[in-house]
Amino acid sequence: MKLIRFGVSIPEDLCRRFDAHIARKNYPNRSESIRDLIRNELIEEEIKQNTEVVGVLHLLYDHHKRELSDRLTDLQHENRHLVLSSMHIHLDHDNCIEVILIRGKAQEVKNLANSLIATKGVKHGRLNITSTGTNLA
Ligand code: NI
Repeated sequence: MKLIRFGVSIPEDLCRRFDAHIARKNYPNRSESIRDLIRNELIEEEIKQNTEVVGVLHLLYDHHKRELSDRLTDLQHENRHLVLSSMHIHLDHDNCIEVILIRGKAQEVKNLANSLIATKGVKHGRLNITSTGTNLA
């Protein structure tokens, strides 16, 4: 992969704040951080354009809640064309965490994730979207 170098002019104060941000995020240098900022922006664009994305969803719930596990499983079966894989971990006596990989159009991925998160009894859920993008090297 060929790397391109380019100069960027930004106000001193903004640069100082950016360097502090880079340090907090443990980036080795500005370049790696800027590359990630660009990739994040491109992924946001893909999400808006409803292209194919991959979502990683986690759900935290109490498996004692009546019929909750069944409802979550039913939803995944109904959308099995989107669900790539799931992992269930018994965290403690009450709590389970489920990590579900979802691939599809951005809107489909978000809709399924929202339905799962909104299921009564789910304590916490969050979706992270990444891209299968070929332009993120
Ligand atoms: Ni469990």
